[in-house]
Amino acid sequence: MAIVLSIDAGTSSVRSFAFDEAGAPLASAAREFTQHYPRPGWVEHDAEEILAAVVATLGEVRARVPDEPVAAIGLTVQRETTVVWDRRTGRPLHRAIVWQDRRTAGRCDQLEAAGHLEVVRARTGLVLDPYFSATKLEWLLGEGGVPATGDLAFGTVDSWLLWHLTGGAVHATEPGNASRTMLFDIRDLAWSGELVELFGVPAGCLPEVRPSSGRFGVTVEGCGVEAGIPVSGIAGDQQAALFGQACFEPGTTKNTYGTGSFVLMNVGPECPEPVEGLLTTVAWQLADGTVAYALEGAIFSTGSAIQWLRDGLGVIDEAAETGPLAASVDDTGGVYLVPAFTGLGSPWWDPYARGAVVGITRGTGRAHLARAVVEAMAYQTRDVVDAMQAASGREVVHLRADGGASVMDLLLQLQADQLQVPVSRPVNQETTALGAAYLAGLAEGVWGSLDELAAQWQLDVEVSPRADRASADALHAGWRRAVERARGWATDGA
Ligand SMILES: Nc1ncnc2c1ncn2[C@@H]1O[C@H](COP(=O)(O)OP(=O)(O)OP(=O)(O)O)[C@@H](O)[C@H]1O
Ligand SMILES: [Mg+2]
Repeated sequence: MAIVLSIDAGTSSVRSFAFDEAGAPLASAAREFTQHYPRPGWVEHDAEEILAAVVATLGEVRARVPDEPVAAIGLTVQRETTVVWDRRTGRPLHRAIVWQDRRTAGRCDQLEAAGHLEVVRARTGLVLDPYFSATKLEWLLGEGGVPATGDLAFGTVDSWLLWHLTGGAVHATEPGNASRTMLFDIRDLAWSGELVELFGVPAGCLPEVRPSSGRFGVTVEGCGVEAGIPVSGIAGDQQAALFGQACFEPGTTKNTYGTGSFVLMNVGPECPEPVEGLLTTVAWQLADGTVAYALEGAIFSTGSAIQWLRDGLGVIDEAAETGPLAASVDDTGGVYLVPAFTGLGSPWWDPYARGAVVGITRGTGRAHLARAVVEAMAYQTRDVVDAMQAASGREVVHLRADGGASVMDLLLQLQADQLQVPVSRPVNQETTALGAAYLAGLAEGVWGSLDELAAQWQLDVEVSPRADRASADALHAGWRRAVERARGWATDGA
C-alpha cells in the first residue's frame, strides 16, 4: 500500500498529513507560526519559519508511518502571500507580505483612478484590491528596498516551499496560485506581459507555471522525509478544498470556514465573464491539460473573529467554546458584529472598512457576542452566494462545508436557514490537505480518475433549512445595515 503525504501551509499554521489510498488520514502533525503586525493593517510572515514548520511536521508525520512507501507529496498553501528570495542563498529578501495586508490600498485606488481596473479584471478575473500579490511585490521592490537583481526570485508560498523541497532545482507554480498574483492571464494560462509591465516586475523572477497535478520535482535530503519523493500536486488552499470536497461537476459549491471563509463554485472548463463583486479564478489544471475554473467569494474574517473573542477579549478560553456558548441564547438580542478587521472582501471590496459591533444594549452578554460572531459567518456567506446567483444566474442548490469552524452544528443550521438550501459536512474536514494529496496521487497513479475520488467523499452531517425565508431575510436585513456602519471607516490610507 502506498501513502500520500500532504502539506497544508496555511495562514496561521502548517499541518502535514499522511493519507492512505482510501483518503483516510493515518497521521498528522501541526505547527503554528508567528504573525507579525508591524503597523495597523500590515501583516507579515517569516518565510523561513514557515519552511521550518514544513520540515518539522513532515518529519513528524513520516516518523509515525515509517514503513509505508510514499508515492507522492501534495502541497497546498495560503494564497497571494508574497515571498521574495535570493536564488544564490535561498534566503528571503524581506518578510513575506500576507494576503490580509492592506498597505497597498492607496496604490490600488491610484491604479483604479488611472483606469487600470478593466485590464486587470479582463486578464486576471480579480478586482483591484491589496489582497493580491502584484501590488505587494511592487511595494517590496520600491518602499521595501528589495533590489531587483538577476538573482531575485518571486513566488507565492507554494513556489517558495517547492524551491526548498527540491533543493533549489525547481522554481515553479501552477495556474490556481498564479491566478491570485494579479499578473496571470487566466484565459491564456500564462503570465500577462501587459500586467508584468504595469507592475514593473523584473524579467526572470517569475516562477514557471505547470499543471496543478503532475510531477514538479523530487525532494532532497533535509526536508523531513527521504530524498527522491516526487512532489506532484500543488494548489492554493481554497482550490485544494474544492478538489478535496470532490466538487468536480460544474455548479458544485463549497465553503471553507477557516480564518476567513472562501466560497468556491466549480464553473467548468470555460473561463466565464467577470461577475460583479466576485472573483473568477483557475481552480486547477490536470496533467492532461484540462482546466476547471471557479467563481469565488473571498471573505477575509470569519474564524479570526473567534480568535479575537479568545485572544483579544478573553470572552472564551478555547475556540471550541464558541458553538455551545452561542447556542446558549436563542438570538443575539439585536447585536450584529461585522468582523471587518482587515477590510471587507467579496462582495464589497472595501479595504477601508473596519470591524463594528452594533446594537449593544445593557442586556448584551458574552453569549450574544459569541452568537453574533457565528451569525456573521452565515450572513457573509449569504452575501457572497446572493451575489453569485444574481450575477451569474447559477443557483447554489447545496453547499459543502469544511474548515475549523464548520464543526459547529449551529453554524451549519444558520447557514442553511440563510441560504434556504441544505448544507453538508464531510467526515474528513481536512479537505484542504486531502485535495492536495488527491492532486499528487492522481499524477503518480495512486488514484486513477476523478470518479474514484468522488466515491471517497463521505457525509458526516447534512442540515436542512428550519427557519422560514421571511425570518431569515429579516435578520439578514439587519446585518446589511450593520455592514453599512462598518464601511469606509479607516481614513489613514490603509
Ligand atoms: N471547535 C471549534 N469551534 C469553533 N471554531 C473553531 C473550532 N476549532 C477551530 N475553530 C476556528 O476555526 C478556525 C481555524 O480553522 P482552519 O484551521 O480551517 O483555518 P485555516 O484558515 O485553514 O487556518 P490557517 O490559517 O492555518 O490556514 C479558527 O479561526 C478557529 O477560530
Ligand atoms: Mg487552511
